[in-house]
Amino acid sequence: MRVVFHTSSAAETIELGRALCLQLKPGDVVAFHGELGAGKTTMIKGVAAGLGVADVVKSPSFVIVTEYAGRLPVYHIDLYRLSESSDFGAIGLDSYIEGEGICLIEWAERAEKILPASAVRVRMSVEEEGRRIEVSGPNVDRNVQPARGL
Ligand SMILES: Nc1ncnc2c1ncn2[C@@H]1O[C@H](COP(=O)(O)OP(=O)(O)OP(=O)(O)O)[C@@H](O)[C@H]1O
Ligand SMILES: [Mg+2]
Repeated sequence: MRVVFHTSSAAETIELGRALCLQLKPGDVVAFHGELGAGKTTMIKGVAAGLGVADVVKSPSFVIVTEYAGRLPVYHIDLYRLSESSDFGAIGLDSYIEGEGICLIEWAERAEKILPASAVRVRMSVEEEGRRIEVSGPNVDRNVQPARGL
C-alpha cells in the first residue's frame, strides 16, 4: 500500500512520524529516502517520540547508529557517510536489521542489498511549500493518519 502526504512545517512532519509509529511492530525497518534537508531526521523524531523515546533525537554527525530505549529498542541509523559497497556486516548493520528493535534508517538506499522486503519506505522531497512524503510497503495500512488533519 502507498499513501502520499504533504506537510507544510517540521511540526506536521513530526506529527506524521508519530502517526506512522502506530503501524510498527517489533523488528520492523523503516527506510527513509530523500535529499539533504528533506526532513528525514525530523520525521524520525516523531516516530521515535511515538515509540516512547524521551531523549532528544538529533542528526548523528559522526556515529552511524544511535540506540534509544523506547517501548522497544529504537535504532537511528544514518548511512550518509557509507557507500553501497560498504561492509555492512563489519559495522553490525545486519544484526540491527534482523533484531527485535525498530530500525529507522536515513539514506537507506546505501544499504538496499540488506533491507528486508517488508521494509516500510518513506520517500521525502522538498516542494514549493513544505514536503511531499510518500509512505509505502507491503504492511502499510492506508489508514495511517496523523492525529491532526493534514
Ligand atoms: N514540512 C517540513 N517537514 C520537515 N522539515 C521541514 C519542513 N519544513 C521545513 N523543514 C525544515 O527542514 C529541515 C529538515 O532537516 P532534517 O535534518 O530533518 O533533514 P534530513 O533529511 O535528515 O537531512 P540530512 O540528509 O542532512 O540528514 C529542518 O530544518 C526543518 O525544520
Ligand atoms: Mg538527517
